[in-house]
Amino acid sequence: MTHSPRKIIIDTDPGQDDAFAILLALASPEDLDVLGVVAVAGNVPLPLTELNSRKIVELSGKTATKIFAGCDRPLKRKLVTAEHVHGKTGLDGPDLPAPTMPLQTQHGVEFIIETLRREPAHTVTLCPLGPLTNIAQAFLQAPDVVGRVQQIVLMGGAYFEVGNITPAAEFNIYVDPEAAEIVFKSGVPLVVMPLDVTHKVLTTRARVEAFRGLNTEVGRVAAEWADFFERFDMEKYGSDGGPLHDPTVIAYLIRPDLFKGRHINVEIETQSDLTLGMTVADWWGVTNRPANALFIGSVDADGFFDLLTERLARL
Ligand code: BDR
Ligand code: CA
Repeated sequence: MTHSPRKIIIDTDPGQDDAFAILLALASPEDLDVLGVVAVAGNVPLPLTELNSRKIVELSGKTATKIFAGCDRPLKRKLVTAEHVHGKTGLDGPDLPAPTMPLQTQHGVEFIIETLRREPAHTVTLCPLGPLTNIAQAFLQAPDVVGRVQQIVLMGGAYFEVGNITPAAEFNIYVDPEAAEIVFKSGVPLVVMPLDVTHKVLTTRARVEAFRGLNTEVGRVAAEWADFFERFDMEKYGSDGGPLHDPTVIAYLIRPDLFKGRHINVEIETQSDLTLGMTVADWWGVTNRPANALFIGSVDADGFFDLLTERLARL
């Protein structure tokens, strides 16, 4: 049976793993119609995340893609960045040329609002790969769009893996917990890719060599990103490679059968200094709080890398 591609907006703070997600989406036009890529402050400040977004899209060759800049800081807090993971530029590793693609003049949040109002209700899926600032800001500015979103599939949070930026919190949620709270309480159907699943998709040597073995520019760059990115987590966790967090969001939209999770209640801690940004996930169903998210816990990692490599080969 044929189906029309699903319309998505990618909200991102690249980041090498964000880059894999963007490339996977742009390489999959039969599955996904990327209406726009919106940068947010996160791994590095906004001027770098928007620049990196343009570099990545330009590398893909899909230069008709529209790229926007959204919010340059969290709703209520000072920006926390992650150069210790992603390098000074946010996209350290291979040298990429300065992009020639333009940045759209419209603010990214305006773009999200306008698109949700223009497209038929429940036909646009939001794919946040960084702090949830832009999405929350759109919902605050235009409450009428909340009920029009088809689904939000996001990378963020953790339960069994607990935290990566603090002992209790995952980076994307920690950076803007107030924004995360708005999104998790919005009533929009949510699919969450926490560290519990992303720590299972590791860039092992064989997988990175499969990227390199594509013998294309995209394959070479992808391998060099993975080479750079993995060092941090390999040292920290003693793992066989780096976790490719963000492309799980896009892979889920293409091949949901690769993933398994539970429909559960997830709340965001916004008060405690010690556990700020924690995703309090009722995995074991010990409260009667209503489910608000499909919280993913496992993945067919080989299937995920096969899909990613096969799609990158097209670019
Ligand atoms: C998330 O934080 C960022 O560093 C990555 O790009 C990913 O989105 C993982 O905690
Ligand atoms: Ca990210």
